Amino acid sequence: MKLFTVLTVTVTFGTLALACGRPSSMSQVKVAAAFSTTFTGKCANCHGAAGEGDTGPSLKAVDYATFSTKVRTGGRGMPKFATDVYPDSDVKSDFTALTGKAAQ
Ligand code: HEC
Repeated sequence: MKLFTVLTVTVTFGTLALACGRPSSMSQVKVAAAFSTTFTGKCANCHGAAGEGDTGPSLKAVDYATFSTKVRTGGRGMPKFATDVYPDSDVKSDFTALTGKAAQ
């Protein structure tokens, strides 16, 4: 029972930290874990493991319209990705993992 309480408190704190977008190390770990395998496998080599920027620009402050359009159209050194390679559900969850904002 005591172990269960400790686990519950830990999970609750982690969820709260993520919901508040606080830059604690715990929320960083959770955000990193939320990236799709597409992002990790196909985007991170140009945009950084957490989208912080590398040969491609940082994706941390991009808006959803720009994000969702750019992945489908590409251009200027950015490849384009069709829905069978990078489904809309992954585009949305990666946008949220990158920016902490809901996709809309
Ligand atoms: C080969 C390297 C490369 C890969 C792989 C790549 N990108 Fe890019 N990306 C770029 C470059 C270079 C730009 C800048 C293009 C420009 O200036 O128009 C860019 C631009 C973007 C932008 C626009 C950023 C802005 O602020 O306007 C988004 C969003 C983006 N990439 C998302 C992704 C996602 C998501 C993936 C994986 C599905 C991905 N990229 C894979 C190189 C890459």
